[in-house]
Parts: sequence; C-alpha cells; structure tokens
Amino acid sequence: MKNKKKYLKDKQKINLDIPHIGSIENLSYSSYGVLKNNGKVIFIPYTVTGDVISYKLLKDKKTFSEGRLIEILNSSPYRRKPLCPYFGMCGGCQWQHVKYEYQLLSKKKITADLLERIGKIGAPPVQEINAAESEWNYRNRVRFQIGVAKNNVNFGFTVYNTNEVVDIETCYIVKKPIAELLKKIRMLKEELVGLFDFEVYYSELEDNYIFYGITRNLTALNNIRRIPDLFKGGIFFDKKSKRSLNIKSPFLNYSLKTINSNYSLKIMAGGFLQANQLVNTKILNTLIEEFSNCKDLKLLELYAGCGNFTIPLSKLFKHVVAVEGSHISIQALEENLYRNNIINVVAIKNDVKEEVIKNFNLKKTYDVVFIDPPRVGAKEIVTYLPHLGVNTVVYLSCNPSTLARDLQILINSGFALEKVIPFDMFPQTFHIEVLAILRR
Ligand SMILES: C[S@@+](CC[C@H](N)C(=O)[O-])C[C@H]1O[C@@H](n2cnc3c(N)ncnc32)[C@H](O)[C@@H]1O
Repeated sequence: MKNKKKYLKDKQKINLDIPHIGSIENLSYSSYGVLKNNGKVIFIPYTVTGDVISYKLLKDKKTFSEGRLIEILNSSPYRRKPLCPYFGMCGGCQWQHVKYEYQLLSKKKITADLLERIGKIGAPPVQEINAAESEWNYRNRVRFQIGVAKNNVNFGFTVYNTNEVVDIETCYIVKKPIAELLKKIRMLKEELVGLFDFEVYYSELEDNYIFYGITRNLTALNNIRRIPDLFKGGIFFDKKSKRSLNIKSPFLNYSLKTINSNYSLKIMAGGFLQANQLVNTKILNTLIEEFSNCKDLKLLELYAGCGNFTIPLSKLFKHVVAVEGSHISIQALEENLYRNNIINVVAIKNDVKEEVIKNFNLKKTYDVVFIDPPRVGAKEIVTYLPHLGVNTVVYLSCNPSTLARDLQILINSGFALEKVIPFDMFPQTFHIEVLAILRR
C-alpha cells in the first residue's frame, strides 16, 4: 500500500504528455540509455551516456519508466554516426551509434554491475574486456527471420522486442560472403514464405554455406526450388511434426585455431557454432593459459556442442567427459574426436541435468567442470556441481544476468570467484560473452 501511494505520488510528478529534458547517465544491458528523473530510472532507446535530450514518457511503471527520444539537444562525445541505414529499426544491432571504445568500457561496467546487483557479489574481479579484432563483418553464423506483411515477404532481423521483421538488403555485422549471399537469397525470398527462421553458416575453409530452416509446416517446402542451389546443403525442420528433411550435404568443415594448434572440425546444420571465430580463438587461448597444469586432472564438460572446447581442452587434461543434448551436435562431436585422433574423451548424449544427477547418485568425481550453457543459464545444475568433488568451476556465459544468478549459488556453496573475463563476441550489440573462474 505504501508503495502504491509512492507510485501515485511519482505519477503526479511525471506528466506523460509533456516533453522532459534529461541527461543520459549510462548504457543499460539492452538498446536503452538510462537517465534519472526525480530518482526514477527512465530507459530511452538509442541514446548514450552524455547525451542531453528531450524525451516523452511512453510507459510509467512502478519502479522504472520508458521514454521516447524527441531530440538530442547536446550530443555525447561517445556518440557516432551509425554505419547501417537500417540501424534504429532493425533489431540486429543496438549500439552502432556508440563509439567502439565506449562499447567496450560499457560492457565491462555492465558485467560488474549485473554481478553486483543480481549476484550480490561485492567488488567482482572483472578484468579488462577482450576487444574483437574487427567490429564489423564478424559473424560466421546468423539467424535471419522471415515475416509476411501486406503480402510482402520480409527477410532480416526482428525489430527489438517485437515479432515484426525488417527487410534488409545488407548487413554490416555478418561476414562479407554472408552479406553477398543475403543479396542472392533476397532475390528468391518469396520461396521462404512458410518458414519461421533461416540460419546461415559460413566456413572460410570451404568458402561455402549451409542452412537450417524452421518451417511452419512441411507443405511450405513445396515452394522452395532455387534456394538450396545457393548452399552446400542444409536441413529443413518442421516444428509441429518434428520431422526434418536433409538437403544435399548439410555439413561444413572449418578450422578451429588456437595459439598452438589448428584443428579441423565438422559442423552440422542445426548444431551450435560460435558466431565470432576470432573471439572464440581468444577464449580458447585464455583457457589454454589457465589450464596448462592439468595433465593429471579429470574434466567434466557440460553443453559441449560439436567439440569447440572439448577438442583443445582434451590436450590439457588426463580425461574428459563431454555432455551434449542435441543429436545433431553429438554426432559431429564424435566425428570431430575421431578425425583429430582424440582418445581421452567420452562423449555422452544426454540432458545435462539428468547426467549431473546420475553422476551425483553414482558418486562420480571430477577435478574441474567447464560449462557453456545457452542464454537461460545453468540454474538447474549448479547446485549439484559442488557434490561432484570439483575444485574449479569454469563458466562461459553469453548472458551476464543468468551468470550472476548462478554465480551467487556457487559462491554460497563455498566457491570463491577468482576472475571474470569479458569478451566482445558481438560488437554493435549489447551482448557480452563472459568467462568466470571459481575455485575452492
Ligand atoms: C552455447 S552452446 C555451446 C556449445 C559449445 N560449447 C561450443 O562452444 O560450440 C550450448 C550447447 O548446449 C546444448 N544444450 C542446451 N541445453 C542443454 C541441455 N539441457 N542438456 C544438454 N545440452 C544442452 C546445446 O545443444 C548447445 O550445443
């Protein structure tokens, strides 16, 4: 009740119709800059720290408000002209208007803030962020969306936080060969009506592409005639019937580079492939440095994918158990182990939670666990990890919010957070890849 009174009082203070003037204080973990009005946090899209703006309120909620930028009265020194004509409409990027150096500073700060706020971790040991080699044309895997509006087929990315697809002719964050391919797909995009989304993978080694398309129903495939000619192969997957259709050769070979080796790996359409291979190499090199003294230790790797980390890590540990749930990825993982002559890894296809519980019941122990979960994090399994005897947990996350939540659980069960290393896997976006190392 007390809160409601305060809310009503605040509401009187903030008038929704009149323009306000404010100064952006920082970037949030989204497309929004943040300012404060009477102590209340207000999110304004596509602004940056130091912008003095006029804005109108769109939504006035209890704890925060959302506003719309009307005019930049005084432009921030961190602001720059976005490269892409679709910026602001297309949800593929959120930070093109921010100078790259400031994107990096903000990602480090946001990582620390989220660990403090969500994880309740005082002074988290966040190191300098590892910048990307190139802030443009870095993505070797990208998921395009398909939308139909007023009988037009739109092929591109969705508007941030909506299902509306912006039709794009080019994209500056995908690798140049994918940007070239995009032009060709666009000419045939009517064929793709009936698909939800269309994922494209590119391999520099093969200079070729594969796709993974999710259909609304399998009859949609009757329209698709010329699109597969643009690819080495691909898979169409029908969500309703769970049936899939393989076209030509739906796999690619690619080089996985580390500081001391160059591995040949296979990826299947539908499997996970890190989207920025140069930054992936930086993460691998950091792991190689961190685990140079583990020759006698056993590693449990959860969310192993097709072996991106398994293969290089197998060289550092005595024995590795790698768990992956997708049948597409586990097949590739097994082949990747075979073709790289790796015999100290056991690959298990299972849900990680089931596998962790099984290990817990069988009292199996490991020295180190490495996890690389999807954006939702690993809440379901982190509580079990301390019972597997591990002294070190290495957690690679693509979402610092869920990382913060999970780290809190690990810290409460006796682990100390030794270091947190952010990597800029996704320049021009607010996304952050974070490596956290805990020991006890
Ligand atoms: C972020 S990807 C990381 C893959 C791999 N480490 C790499 O770098 O390529 C997460 C992986 O976890 C797998 N996965 C997601 N949820 C899972 C679960 N509950 N059980 C087992 N595997 C899961 C996905 O199939 C995907 O391959």
